[in-house]
Amino acid sequence: MQVLIAQDAPVAVRTGALVVPVFTGGELSSAAKALDAALGGAITDVLASEEIKGKLADCVLLHAKDQPYHRVLVVGLGDRAKFEPSHLARYAGTAARYLGRRNVETLAIALPDEAKGNETACASFAVEGAITGAFQTSMYQEKPEKRIAIESVTILADGFDAKAIKVGVERGTILGEAVNFARRLAVTPANDMTPTILADEAVKAAKAAGVEIEVFDEARIRKEGMGSFLSVAQGSVQPPKFIVMKYTGDPGNKELLALVGKGITFDTGGISLKPPERMEEMKYDMSGGAGVIAAMIALGRLKPKLNVVGLVPATENMPGGKATKPGDIVKAMNGKTIEVINTDAEGRLILADALAYANKLGATKIIDAATLTGACVIALGHAASAAIGNNEGLTNEFLAAAKPTGERYWEMPLYDEYASAMKSDIADLKNTGGRPAGALTAAAFLKAFVDETPWLHLDIAGTAYLDNESAWQAKGPTGTPVRALVSFVETLAGSPVVHANGHIKVNA
Ligand code: BES
Ligand code: MN
Ligand code: ZN
Repeated sequence: MQVLIAQDAPVAVRTGALVVPVFTGGELSSAAKALDAALGGAITDVLASEEIKGKLADCVLLHAKDQPYHRVLVVGLGDRAKFEPSHLARYAGTAARYLGRRNVETLAIALPDEAKGNETACASFAVEGAITGAFQTSMYQEKPEKRIAIESVTILADGFDAKAIKVGVERGTILGEAVNFARRLAVTPANDMTPTILADEAVKAAKAAGVEIEVFDEARIRKEGMGSFLSVAQGSVQPPKFIVMKYTGDPGNKELLALVGKGITFDTGGISLKPPERMEEMKYDMSGGAGVIAAMIALGRLKPKLNVVGLVPATENMPGGKATKPGDIVKAMNGKTIEVINTDAEGRLILADALAYANKLGATKIIDAATLTGACVIALGHAASAAIGNNEGLTNEFLAAAKPTGERYWEMPLYDEYASAMKSDIADLKNTGGRPAGALTAAAFLKAFVDETPWLHLDIAGTAYLDNESAWQAKGPTGTPVRALVSFVETLAGSPVVHANGHIKVNA
C-alpha cells in the first residue's frame, strides 16, 4: 500500500473517498464542518437522523458525485473528552476496511483538531491503522470473498505541522508493515511456516532492514548446550532453528535489551498430546517469535538510539519415536536440570535456553513474549496480555510505554509460592506446577533462567489472535506485541513518539 501526504484543504482533495471524523453527540471536527458546508449540510443531516452517533468505528458513507473526493466516509471517533491518539488507528482501520470492501482503491484521511501539537503520534496511528486495517488473510483463496481493494492512503496535513506529520507517516508506515509482517508469519499454516521457513523469512527481512542476523542450526544449538530447547525439538522431523538478530543503534553503549520470542511453529502437545478440538490454532504458537522478529525489523528501519538483540528459538512440538517422554530429565544451558512432567508445557522449555543465552550475551534487560499458557486466557480472556517480571522499574517502564499504543498489558504477581510449585523431587525444576495460577507458575519457571537481570515476561496467549473480526481488524492474528515492544524501545532510547497523555507535545 502506498502512503502519501497532501497539503490540500479537505474540500479540494482528489481521492476515491475522503474520511472525516465526528465525535459522539454530533460534534463535527473542522474537516467535517468544511465538508458539511460544501455538501449543503449533508453531514449535519445524517447526524440529526441518528444514522450515526459518533461512537468509535461508526460509519456512514455519503456519495459526492461532482466533488473531487467522490465520496465522504463519516467515521465516529467516540467521546471527544476521552480522545486518545491510538483511537486514530481504529478510526483509520475502520475506514480502510469499510471502503476497501466496497472496492474503493484510494482514500484520504482527515485528522481531528485534537491532533494539533501532537501530529507525529496522531499521523503515526492513522497510518498504522490504515495499513493494519487493510490486512487480509485470504492468501490461500483463489477468489477472496471479502477482498480489500485499498491501494493508497493519503494523510491530510492542511492546518497541521507538516514536518511532524511526515515523521509520523514514516513511523506509522514502518510500524503498520511490521505488524502485518508478524501477522502474516503467524497466520501462515505450520506446513508453510516450519522453523526453517520462519528463519528464512527473518533473514530476508533483516537483510532488507539492515539488521544483523545469524541462524543457529541443530549442531550449533547443541554446542551452546541448549538441552532444554533440543528436548522439545527432538520429537519432530523438522530441524530446529535458533534465530539471533542484532540491531546496533548506539555503538559503545553498554546497555543491551534482549527481546525473546516463543517460536513454536506448531504445538501438538507432544507425547502429552492435546485434544483435537481447536488444535489448528496452535499454528499461532510462534506469535511471540513473529512479534520479536517484526519488532527487530521495525527497529532497523526506525533507527532508535539503543542496542537490541532479538532471540527466537523455533521448533515444532511433536510426538514421535524420539520425542521427550513425561518424566525425562533435561539440562538447560545454564546447567539447571528440568523434569519434564508434561510435554505440552514446551514453551517454557525453549524459552529457558533463550533467556539463559540472553544473559550470556550480556543483556542488561530482557523482555520475552510468548503464547505460553491457557491459564492466562482463563485469567484475562482476550482483553489483555499478562505482564509478569522480577523488576518493578522495568515493569512500570514497559507498562507506561505500552499503554498509549492501544495494546493492553496487565501486571500479575510473582510470589515465592509460585517458584515453590516448580520444584522437582529429583531435578532442579519441573516444568509444570499444577492448575492453580498456571500463568504465574510458568513465569516463576522462566525466572530461574534470567538470574538477576531485570526481566519481564509477556503472556500473549489470549491476545495474539482473535476469533472474531472487528470494524478495524481482520479475524485471526493481531500483531501483539509489536506495537508495545517498539514503543518501549523508543522510550528507552529517549525518543518516545506515543505518549500516555495525548496532549503532551511530542513532535519531532
Ligand atoms: N501453547 C500453549 C498455550 C496456549 C493455549 C496458547 C491456548 C494459546 C491458546 C502452551 O504450550 C501449553 O500447551 N500450555 C499448557 C501448559 C500446561 C501443560 C502446564 C496449558 O496452558 O495448558
Ligand atoms: Mn503446549
Ligand atoms: Zn505452546
